[in-house]
Amino acid sequence: MLVESGQVAVVTGAARGIGRAIATELASRGVSVVIVDLRAEPLGAVAEELAAAGDGAVVPATVDVADAEAMTALAQRVQERFGRIDLVINNAGIAPNDGKPMWEADLAQWRRVVDVNLFGMLHGIRAFVPHLVAAGRGHVVNIASLAGLSGTPLSASYGTSKHAAVALSEMLLAELELMGLPIGVTVVCPGFVRTPMVEENRDMTRGPEWADRLGADATALLESIEETMKDMLEPDEAARRVLAAVEAGALHTLPTGDVADGARTRTRRVLDAIEASGSD
Ligand SMILES: NC(=O)c1ccc[n+]([C@@H]2O[C@H](COP(=O)([O-])OP(=O)(O)OC[C@H]3O[C@@H](n4cnc5c(N)ncnc54)[C@H](O)[C@@H]3O)[C@@H](O)[C@H]2O)c1
Repeated sequence: MLVESGQVAVVTGAARGIGRAIATELASRGVSVVIVDLRAEPLGAVAEELAAAGDGAVVPATVDVADAEAMTALAQRVQERFGRIDLVINNAGIAPNDGKPMWEADLAQWRRVVDVNLFGMLHGIRAFVPHLVAAGRGHVVNIASLAGLSGTPLSASYGTSKHAAVALSEMLLAELELMGLPIGVTVVCPGFVRTPMVEENRDMTRGPEWADRLGADATALLESIEETMKDMLEPDEAARRVLAAVEAGALHTLPTGDVADGARTRTRRVLDAIEASGSD
């Protein structure tokens, strides 16, 4: 689908980071944007900035994507206000990263990660896709992660939720295709993008929680993460690559490439296991 002036997009997690950059890029192309976030104050400031950047309308909405009913009500409001919805960007996500193995990690935190990163995405799909189906057009973008294609030790809640986000996206497209519905799906799997989330995570991995429990192997892991972070993508470039993937109709897109070879390694292991099983 071409991204064009006059369309209407919804972007979750738009008060900062990748969501803000995608909303900014859309506004600059004349798309009306509904920006959604938990944080009302920065969201208001972003709304003002975007309104100045383009011709389209900008509507801020303070909503928790983990709240299914609030998301459904939001979709109704957007449909009533604009009479169309073209692009739904499920971007909101969290990455609390306390450096604990899964048998010690806080269960309430695990549930919140799954509630936001997986159910938040599902709520976006359930709230907005019926409007796209009714119109017979549109595109859904789900922001997963390279952590959704490879292992992420010591942040398993995040990696698990992102693997689920990739699977959810693939099955969404399969269901739409099975029903002959011309709606596109793109799942985005970035490595590091320079956002507040990454900076906060970097602070956490340098903190006492991590230092106390890590052996020499994990120190090497942290060093390799630091190395990968040196070439972080800027959010505005990530945003342009996401919209290019939408326009190309790509299901999977890796805007930073497979930076630490994790997706390749994992995929090779699965391929090796298939070969070892003797099936053709
Ligand atoms: N930055 C990276 O390197 C990177 C890499 C891979 C994937 N991602 C994914 O990209 C997405 C955006 O990440 P980012 O780095 O811009 O993060 P960020 O923390 O900088 O911004 C995320 C925004 O989402 C909002 N948010 C969080 N929970 C929410 C909720 N329940 N409801 C509504 N809004 C909520 C936050 O308030 C924040 O404004 C996330 O899904 C993240 O997992 C980021």
